[in-house]
Amino acid sequence: MDTQRKDDQALEEETLDPQDWAALRALSHRIVDDAIDYVSGVRDRPVWRDMPDDVRRSFATPLPEGPTPADDVYREVAANVLNYPMGNIHPRFWSWYMGSSNFTGALGDFLAAIQGSNLGGGNHAAALMDQQVVDWCKQMLGFPDSASGTLVSGGSVANIIGLAVARNVKAGLDVRERGVAEIERPLRFYGSDQIHSCHRKAMETLGLGNQALRRIPTDAALRIDVAALRNAIDEDRAAGFKPACVIATAGTVNTGAIDDLEALARLADEEGLWLHVDGCIGALLAIAPENRFRVAGIEKANSVALDPHKWLHAPFEAGCVLIQDASAHRGTFAVTPEYLVATTRGLAAAPWLYDYGLQTTRGFRALKIWMSLKEHGIAKFGRLVDQNIAQGRYLSELIEAEPSLELVAPTAINIVCFRYRSVGKSADELKTLNTEIMLRLQDEGTAVLSDTTVHGEHCLRVAINNHRTRRGDLDLLVEEVVRLGRDITART
Ligand SMILES: Cc1ncc(COP(=O)(O)O)c(C=O)c1O
Repeated sequence: MDTQRKDDQALEEETLDPQDWAALRALSHRIVDDAIDYVSGVRDRPVWRDMPDDVRRSFATPLPEGPTPADDVYREVAANVLNYPMGNIHPRFWSWYMGSSNFTGALGDFLAAIQGSNLGGGNHAAALMDQQVVDWCKQMLGFPDSASGTLVSGGSVANIIGLAVARNVKAGLDVRERGVAEIERPLRFYGSDQIHSCHRKAMETLGLGNQALRRIPTDAALRIDVAALRNAIDEDRAAGFKPACVIATAGTVNTGAIDDLEALARLADEEGLWLHVDGCIGALLAIAPENRFRVAGIEKANSVALDPHKWLHAPFEAGCVLIQDASAHRGTFAVTPEYLVATTRGLAAAPWLYDYGLQTTRGFRALKIWMSLKEHGIAKFGRLVDQNIAQGRYLSELIEAEPSLELVAPTAINIVCFRYRSVGKSADELKTLNTEIMLRLQDEGTAVLSDTTVHGEHCLRVAINNHRTRRGDLDLLVEEVVRLGRDITART
């Protein structure tokens, strides 16, 4: 083939790389500058605002057939997406339970995508960093070096992985080969009536069914009633079931209540049950000097789910599961097909990380966690956990001092459940009133909270998992709730 023909062929071949790297450099610099303004100015914007119709319509445009210049693509994203965020990086976002991200972590996500490594495994630096971050998680929780773990998308998947290992270990047969239908005595798992909904999905996904998860009543502090749990286990055994696993919650989603982990570890040990801790909210209390006592005993669990995208504020998504018995973990997921046989040197000369979970291709989640841990150090993250808990206490005190407000559940950590009260209103009327307060706070862009029902009582719920929140934000919240409560009751 002569040189001319080779050149002609090369011209016909395409790539996604730009033709003009200088223009891409200029756009990228602009995006980074805008991103810094976006994050540094977040406090000055409304927490949330609804999208106008033209923005909604922009998401119904058809599949683009041809090209659009990258500058225009970015302009559209800035106008229609960045302007209408969920709001969870704002200092006054306290809904559900989210972290508030961090800039260095976002740079980590960018660099992970730039390097583009696949964390299914292999002999490369990203794979070592992935394992190092798992090792750091073990150190944070006091798990031994011999334990295993894996980074996943979030707490829901971390819980499924832990519960899958529990099921396989306790099934009494090779579930991987024979399936759940052949388990002789149906397995029973136990959690409190405050357990997160992801466990229901886990039970369903694992083929055990929702009814295999017995919800045990909670005490006035919303912690699992250990005596009731013991009775349920006895009852199930007598009825021919096989009690298999206790799911303790360290930080319930409704109120932040932390089950008695030491008592549950003892009970699981005596009864021969697997102890899984859902620590998506509270496992990282273990790094907080003033509050780590609350999760004493977590290191005794057979498995723990934790969420670096909550109290480590990693940009979504980042969850982690730790398993004491690495061989049980590997034994639940490892498969070596002919195309993944390890070599003695080269890129495939390393354990496949895909052997510890469900995904084959895995993103480089570790980098964003690693970079912000390295930048700030674990001591600062621990202080930020303590700070959020002190803010939860501060808000609770403001509420207790305000006659028109009342706490609806005890504040265990950083989640505050309260409501505006109004003499003579029924429970339904109070619910309507408080829901309206919550929606007006959103509409006005002042603050975003959510609501829930705790032991039958509807309430507003403030979850302060936010490194940008200041006490002044909580003062403002209380003032605004009281003002809105008065306004709405005056008009109805
Ligand atoms: C106690 C608890 N478990 C599990 C989850 C699910 O975690 P993720 O949203 O990271 O999947 C949450 C979420 O807030 C939670 O609070």
